[in-house]
Amino acid sequence: MKQTDYTATLSFSNGKPSVEMPVYAGSIGPDVVDIRKLYAQTGMFTYDPGFLSTASCQSTITYIDGDKGELLYRGYPIEQLAEHCDYLDTCYLLLNGELPNVKQRDDFHHLVNQHTMVHEQMQFFLRGFRRDAHPMAILTGLVGAMSAFYHDSTDVHNPEHRHIAAIRLIAKMPTLVAMAYKYKIGQPFMYPRNDLSYSGNFLRMMFGVPCEDYVVNPVLERALDRIFILHADHEQNASTSTVRLCASSGTNPFAAISAGVACLWGPAHGGANEACLNMLEEIQAMGGVAKVGEFMEKVKDKNSGVKLMGFGHRVYKNYDPRAKLMQETCNEVLKELGLENDPLFKLAKSLEKIALEDDYFVSRKLYPNVDFYSGIVQRAIGIPVDLFTGIFALARTVGWIAQLNEMIGDPEYKIGRPRQLFTGSAHRNVKPIEQR
Ligand code: CMC
Repeated sequence: MKQTDYTATLSFSNGKPSVEMPVYAGSIGPDVVDIRKLYAQTGMFTYDPGFLSTASCQSTITYIDGDKGELLYRGYPIEQLAEHCDYLDTCYLLLNGELPNVKQRDDFHHLVNQHTMVHEQMQFFLRGFRRDAHPMAILTGLVGAMSAFYHDSTDVHNPEHRHIAAIRLIAKMPTLVAMAYKYKIGQPFMYPRNDLSYSGNFLRMMFGVPCEDYVVNPVLERALDRIFILHADHEQNASTSTVRLCASSGTNPFAAISAGVACLWGPAHGGANEACLNMLEEIQAMGGVAKVGEFMEKVKDKNSGVKLMGFGHRVYKNYDPRAKLMQETCNEVLKELGLENDPLFKLAKSLEKIALEDDYFVSRKLYPNVDFYSGIVQRAIGIPVDLFTGIFALARTVGWIAQLNEMIGDPEYKIGRPRQLFTGSAHRNVKPIEQR
């Protein structure tokens, strides 16, 4: 963080003395005004619900230019990573800051592969859930429960513990997500196969059965790997900020990541891909493409409470670069599976076309986000809708860990403790119950 050669002055119209605040510059992106001493100097807080103008930390991991529609992991454009790297290379990059060379890559893949199995006792914990439990409820529980199964890697202030917890989480998430699925459909759990790729192994644990060989389809393997890359990190979004805040208390990495899983579940965040596919299915049931106009009228009517899911983003005010890549993958997967005429894909294209031309969306800079097409891809692969957010959680785990590690290593980090503007009753006395 570099101090700029200019400062910011905050002046008040009520005669209070003005205060001068330092301004820092990042390597790219907006400068920030340092308000840390504001309360000490003025007795005032700033007010910014939803963090619309607040940088909660400094970070070197992910950069988004929302106006340009640009996403960089450690400086590398998402398009290049999606083209030239696989998910585990991307994990290495996010965790270590650089792409691996051949040896580092082999070692890292080997290390992750050594940790894909989960403690045998975890299946009994999982079996305590109802069969119809939402996979995100199960995953929140399973990831949190890892703190109980892996006692030797729970000290968040110990770099070795954090490293081993990171590898365990990245390696075991696919196993846990697949177990949550198998449990629901009543099939036996599939043990991981470490000779397969990260996404190939996941496909086999999801769709293989012990009584038959499972052959991984390379197009689906690549598509899934791309979904993982595109979801691996996204700077200070709600779940990442949750993980940082949770870990700032010194809690263990598994507990902090399970808080991230819980936050991701919400429909305005990771749950949007599930909500988006449900929306497409509803429109399809209403009559499909012919009903798009009617549906759009509802979206534009503020009283209807209906949103076009998979559209809009807090940061991107241009096409989400991940959505472009996802659309490409969508075409490839549907072609491979002979589903080019998939009615939901046609419907999505028709919604997108109308939205991109409609003044409501254009004037608000609402463009498709990654979730608009990822649901169609996952559905084509055979992943059930209620597991979409679990796939997102699997992929985002590495981002959460990288951000958690960065925070713990930052000398300026403190326990997160936002302030408030109190608007409730001031001091008052309890009246006896008969007088209330
Ligand atoms: N459909 C209809 N109107 C919308 C939508 C939408 N999807 N998104 C935003 N708007 C309107 C909103 O009503 C508001 O209108 P007005 O100015 O007239 O009040 C305006 O656009 C600005 O919206 P906002 O709510 O202030 O924007 P935000 O930055 O707070 O919200 C969002 C961002 C993602 C929560 C929101 O766009 C949304 O709910 N989208 C649908 C859910 C979705 O697809 N979420 C996935 C996000 S991408 C995955 C991830 O990175 O987690």
